[in-house]
Amino acid sequence: MARFGLPGQAAHPAAPSPTPAPAAAPASAPAQTLASPPPPPMPPKHVPTAKGGPPSQLDTRLRLHSRLIEELDLAKLDKLDEKDMRREVMSLVADFARSERMALNTADLQELGASIYDEMVGLGPLEPLLKDESINDILINGPFQVYVERRGELELTPVRFRDNDHLLRIVNRIVAGVGRRIDESQPMVDARLADGSRVNAAISPIAIDGAAVSIRKFSKKPMTLEKLVEFNAMPMAVADFIHGAVKARVSTVISGGTGSGKTTLLNALSAAISHGERLITIEDAAELQLQQPHVVRLETRPPNIEGKGEIRQRELVKNALRMRPDRVILGEVRADEAFDMLQAMNTGHEGSMATIHANNPREAIGRLEQMIAMGGLAISPDAMRSQIASAIGLIIQVMRLSDGKRKVTHVTEITGMEGQVVQMQDIFTFNRTHTDPDGTVHGEFRATGLRPRCIDEMTRRGIAYDVANFDPSKALGVS
Ligand SMILES: Nc1ncnc2c1ncn2[C@@H]1O[C@H](COP(=O)(O)OP(=O)(O)OP(=O)(O)O)[C@@H](O)[C@H]1O
Ligand SMILES: [Mg+2]
Repeated sequence: MARFGLPGQAAHPAAPSPTPAPAAAPASAPAQTLASPPPPPMPPKHVPTAKGGPPSQLDTRLRLHSRLIEELDLAKLDKLDEKDMRREVMSLVADFARSERMALNTADLQELGASIYDEMVGLGPLEPLLKDESINDILINGPFQVYVERRGELELTPVRFRDNDHLLRIVNRIVAGVGRRIDESQPMVDARLADGSRVNAAISPIAIDGAAVSIRKFSKKPMTLEKLVEFNAMPMAVADFIHGAVKARVSTVISGGTGSGKTTLLNALSAAISHGERLITIEDAAELQLQQPHVVRLETRPPNIEGKGEIRQRELVKNALRMRPDRVILGEVRADEAFDMLQAMNTGHEGSMATIHANNPREAIGRLEQMIAMGGLAISPDAMRSQIASAIGLIIQVMRLSDGKRKVTHVTEITGMEGQVVQMQDIFTFNRTHTDPDGTVHGEFRATGLRPRCIDEMTRRGIAYDVANFDPSKALGVS
């Protein structure tokens, strides 16, 4: 019944799980020219429990990094020339391999040493986490506390930095990579890693307990609708419907809270767009990975150090409309560009899409109104609402539930205005039934029984959809 015709794929491959660093195994102190004073003790935070079995490769690398951080004076390391630095790192790696009784031949050891060296001069202890594809988010709360999110769950890792200076050096490396800087006068920065991962860093004085860094990793394999169905984010009947609606050029807004899966769903849904269309994407930090051949990507630009040269989303949306797009895809509507986006949807760019930060479909409409009002345009609330009502066809609400799972909780159609109110009707909803003591949420997806108006447009365009799915008497999926 899978209509997207993609081979079924297993959920995330079993991933190595970080296990704790051994309780400060005193490093056998070889004669180190770079030996430095002992690092501050690990804070008495909880340490993740080992899940048993042999230590994973990730775990070994993380411990190797901790060992290097303990034993090398990183400030000096930065000043050494490459050959000396490599030699220092190599000798410590060889020492570690011996003490861990790792069965490595010379070539393996060389390879391990070289890759650890690259990690040390790259993003240090973060590199193994960046390489681990099962990790979505990396959250650094000061030098001694690094969490990751995997499959919706936060885990504390044994990763640590030597001290705040070490962490700051790495933050500086990241922001310098995108031509920006971070210091006391500008203590918050958005940046991007070379692989496209999104980074936000906040340092002293606004971050009180050391630098706070949040990394949303760029997933190399974008999620497909098929996979979202497999992960139970929605049943096939719902995926099929929204896929058909996007294909039929119904303008769609994906609404949800932070990290609820908005961008992921937008990416997946974009597969419904035909390859013959010209798409223009507009984002603050390019994350979308559209599969179509004809895509122009635009990205905002922050002001420079003198506060000049900023290019905002609003200007990009306006510009995009002069570039003859078939559809405009706005990564996230957050300010007065909302007005221009609605205008685009109302003037021949049907099928345009955007995400918005809101907790339910009604709130999404309210947020759009606020955004337009804040732009200071001379437009009455009534006119604003009728713009919204005529521009947007569907609102898809996504939510990160208390157990970390992401779900499509509402597929809601905007049907027009009645008096001064934007009319909307839910087509499908996810209804919670109960929550286990461990927090796992159970519920079912069901149609409300209302027949969406856009089904006519879908039919006109030859997009078949099984209307039996609108029967409210049967659950479409249970989780
Ligand atoms: N259905 C899902 N199942 C498992 N993981 C998911 C699902 N949807 C999204 N994710 C993961 O959750 C993380 C957050 O997703 P995403 O970036 O799409 O959220 P967002 O709502 O756009 O966040 P933000 O508000 O920060 O822009 C990503 O790492 C993504 O891979
Ligand atoms: Mg997003």
